[in-house]
Amino acid sequence: MGYDFLSGGKNHSEVDRKAAAHALRITPDGPAARQANRAFLRRVIRFLVSEAGIDQFLDLGSRLPTQGNVHEVATDATVLYTDVDPVTIRLGQSILAGSDRAGYGFGDATDIGTIDPAQLHRFVPGWGRRPVGVVFLGLAAFLDDATLTHTLDELYAAAAPGSLLAVDFDTEELAGHPQALAMMGPQFRMRPPAAFAPLLGRWAPTADGIVPVAEWRPEGPPERVPDAFHGVLATRPAD
Ligand SMILES: C[S@@+](CC[C@H](N)C(=O)[O-])C[C@H]1O[C@@H](n2cnc3c(N)ncnc32)[C@H](O)[C@@H]1O
Repeated sequence: MGYDFLSGGKNHSEVDRKAAAHALRITPDGPAARQANRAFLRRVIRFLVSEAGIDQFLDLGSRLPTQGNVHEVATDATVLYTDVDPVTIRLGQSILAGSDRAGYGFGDATDIGTIDPAQLHRFVPGWGRRPVGVVFLGLAAFLDDATLTHTLDELYAAAAPGSLLAVDFDTEELAGHPQALAMMGPQFRMRPPAAFAPLLGRWAPTADGIVPVAEWRPEGPPERVPDAFHGVLATRPAD
């Protein structure tokens, strides 16, 4: 897949590499921005494990579980990856076939009831009963405001108090790359950072705030990349 290639992964073919080369011509900063996004995932997951004691994750809209994904960062945690795309799910299942702590199944993020309860119970056994990590990355751009608000609220209601939500969104930076935007399709949504906070509803952003992903708890000087993605970690306080 072109996205996997641009993110530094290994699950791609010649066709994918050509698609990636095309994407690269359209947005030369794209790969750096995507890798900053991946580094954000890595830092967030490490933080959740070491500072919040999280050892179970539900990952929504996962695409491929590679390139430093959740179970590769949280090496003692259990993880359920989900997506709606059948080809992605099959590939994800084959990538994880040898794992006893990470699984992959169908899950429409906008309706968590679509996740197989047996799989949820196996890989996120504390779901609804004790704090878990909910990973919602690369997904907000594909949901309109009403759907996103409803989806995050449904997750809030279902997750146990103390759970944490990692979420990112695309800013209007990409508007400067109309060809790239066209590739993303008509459903693709960019949002100014100030418009995102209200969509979190009852989820409470941590003190780190809603910031460009490269500036979220950077481990050194933040990478100099376009602010194409912003991210936030939010908590579900006790009722
Ligand atoms: C841009 S990728 C994000 C991949 C990964 N989470 C990341 O951040 O690198 C978006 C993924 O969301 C999936 N997707 C789109 N709508 C979805 C929905 N309603 N529920 C679950 N997954 C969805 C797509 O099939 C695609 O694999």
